[in-house]
Amino acid sequence: MKKLIIINGPNLNLLGKREPEVYGNASFEDYFQNLQQRFPSLELIYFQSNIEGELIDKLHEVGFDADGIILNAAAYTHTSVGIGDAVKAVETPVIEVHISNVYAREEFRHLSYISPNASGIIIGFGLKGYELAIQSFLAK
Ligand code: DQA
Repeated sequence: MKKLIIINGPNLNLLGKREPEVYGNASFEDYFQNLQQRFPSLELIYFQSNIEGELIDKLHEVGFDADGIILNAAAYTHTSVGIGDAVKAVETPVIEVHISNVYAREEFRHLSYISPNASGIIIGFGLKGYELAIQSFLAK
């Protein structure tokens, strides 16, 4: 059974409540339940933290064992050398996901410390981006 983990960064615990015009009306917990039902042949794990070091610890914990990591580091994408280094350090391939099209937004969102070491990037497809990332791992 393939093991995939979704790691969400800061403020993504507020999905459904936070800027719904940008991020939609669904909570991630509801969406995640739906994903688990749609991919019963996968071990799908979800982790969210607002704390940079916890995201790094989780990458270390799963990054030599899981088959794939789907990472939306949220605002830390644009600031965190530490998370970027962790993505580089681990063996498991990491797909970077963003719900919104960051390139259509403020310029500070155009820089990513994750992208240079990501195995792929999915941006601007809403929550569906997570599903697309799962499918890309399944196709391997
Ligand atoms: C985000 C985009 C980031 O710029 C922002 O800070 C987020 C969410 C996205 O999924 O669109 O919190 O990663």
